[in-house]
Amino acid sequence: MSALPGSPEATAVTGLDSSPVDAAAVGDVPPLTEQTRLEAREIIARYPVPRSALLPMLHLVQSYQGYVTPEGVALCAEELGLTKAEVGAVATFYTMYKRRPTGRHLVSVCTNTLCAVLGGQRIFEAVAADLGVHHDETAADGSITLEHAECLAACDYAPVVTVDYEFYDQQDVESARELVAALRRGEKPLPTRGAPLTDFRGISRQLAGFSQYEDPDAAVDAPGAYEPTLRGLRLAAERGESAPPFPRPEPTPESSSGAPAAEAAGVESAQRGEPEPAGRSLADKDGGTDTPAGTEPGTSGQGPGKD
Ligand code: FES
Repeated sequence: MSALPGSPEATAVTGLDSSPVDAAAVGDVPPLTEQTRLEAREIIARYPVPRSALLPMLHLVQSYQGYVTPEGVALCAEELGLTKAEVGAVATFYTMYKRRPTGRHLVSVCTNTLCAVLGGQRIFEAVAADLGVHHDETAADGSITLEHAECLAACDYAPVVTVDYEFYDQQDVESARELVAALRRGEKPLPTRGAPLTDFRGISRQLAGFSQYEDPDAAVDAPGAYEPTLRGLRLAAERGESAPPFPRPEPTPESSSGAPAAEAAGVESAQRGEPEPAGRSLADKDGGTDTPAGTEPGTSGQGPGKD
C-alpha cells in the first residue's frame, strides 16, 4: 500500500504510470474493487468513531477514480452506515473533492488578494489560454485540470501556483506557462518546497493516509525553503518589534460561573449586534433550527450525493 505512483507497485494498485497522458483513457473510470473496500476499512479502523474516516475515504475514492463518483459515495455510505445524502453533503462542501473527472494533474492558481496584486490573475488567464479551458475544466488531452484557488496560505511566496497541492512559489506568467508545458510533456518539475510531485491520484492516496515513502524523512521540506516566511521574523527581531497582545474579553458572570467562555462571548457580541466570534448563532443555544424544507444536503441536484 505504500507505493510511489509511477512505480510498478503503484501502477498495479492505482493504474497510475508516468507515461504521457492518453486522452482517450482520461474518461475511463475504473470500478472500485475489493481492495478499495479493504483500504477503506483500514482507514475506518484508525478512528474511534467510524464517520470520522469519511474525509480520507473520499480521498481514497479520488485516488482510484479521479473524482468522487456516485460509486464512491455509495461505498463510503455503506461502510460508514451513513446515507448517500450525508456523504454527498460532505463531498460537495469541500473544493478538494472533485465532482467531475480530473486530469492527471490539478493546477491551482491563487487569484486571491496578494497573489492577484502580484500577477495571479494574469497567470491564470495565460495558463487557461494555453490549455483552452476555463476554471474547473480539463484540457482536451487530459493532462491538466485548472482551477482558480482562494488564498493558499502562502502569501509570503506570492504569486503561488500549486500542482497536486505542491507549491511552486513566486511564479510569473512565463514560469507558470513553462511549468504547465512541462507537465503536459509528462515531466514532473520539482516543487519549490515540500515533497516531490506525484499526480492528482497519487496525492489523493497520500491524503487518504497511505504514505508513498518507506523513509518518512524523504518527504520533508528542503532546507531553507522557509526563507521568505522567516525574513519577517528576523526583521522584527532586529528592530525589537513584537505583535501586540491579544485582547482578552472581560469576564462575565456567566463565564465566571463556568459557562464556556466562547459561548459567553458570543452572547455578548450578539447582544451588541456584532458578528458571532465562533460561527454559532444564538439559536444554537436552544438546540438549533431545522434545515429549511428543500435545502437539505444532497437534494440540490448537484454532486454525487444525488442518485
Ligand atoms: S493570496 Fe495567494 S497565497 Fe495568499
